[in-house]
Amino acid sequence: MQRLQAWFPTFIYGDRLRKNGARLFNRELLQECHQLRDFDDAGRRWSARNYPGGYTSYGSLDKIHKMSSTFIELESHLNRHARAFARALDWDLAGRGLVMTDCWVNIMRHRTAHSLHLHPLSVVSGTYYVATPRGCSGLKFEDPRMSRFMAAPPRIATARAINRPHVTYPAEAGRLILFESWLRHEVPSSPVRSERVSISFNYAWS
Ligand code: NI
Repeated sequence: MQRLQAWFPTFIYGDRLRKNGARLFNRELLQECHQLRDFDDAGRRWSARNYPGGYTSYGSLDKIHKMSSTFIELESHLNRHARAFARALDWDLAGRGLVMTDCWVNIMRHRTAHSLHLHPLSVVSGTYYVATPRGCSGLKFEDPRMSRFMAAPPRIATARAINRPHVTYPAEAGRLILFESWLRHEVPSSPVRSERVSISFNYAWS
């Protein structure tokens, strides 16, 4: 047995949504995201208070996977990835499944940020990227043990990636990221002028 081994890992899943046709599919999704923003007066008001500079349908239309055939198609692809993630985690779903419960749009403009948070009442959460201008913010995760470190010394500047307190996944159009919903994450302030568009979602075990 090796002297030093790592246990209790935190898994993050990243993949392309589909092998082919992502560009065309994203064009359709992007158009619908813009239509949604134009149509969703309540969401724009909610965003003005809670998502300065940007638009999110989180506070108004958070079940888009029930509303449009394009989003239904997105859901069916995401379901496949969620099942693969559950297998990688060795989960016994005991005859039940992972079911998408929420799905919403986020349009970030210059300087829009989404501070550190987690997704209560869910088991798997994630984001799919529709439009990611060069230089846009990634998705930054925090070590879930952070609150337990207390007196621990800081890490050296050359610390290995697995020993660092944060990891940032780049936002790349056509790709998705899945994580367990208790894992805290944030999107740092967007440094670019063009719009960064993503679709976030939650899964429940039901
Ligand atoms: Ni989130």
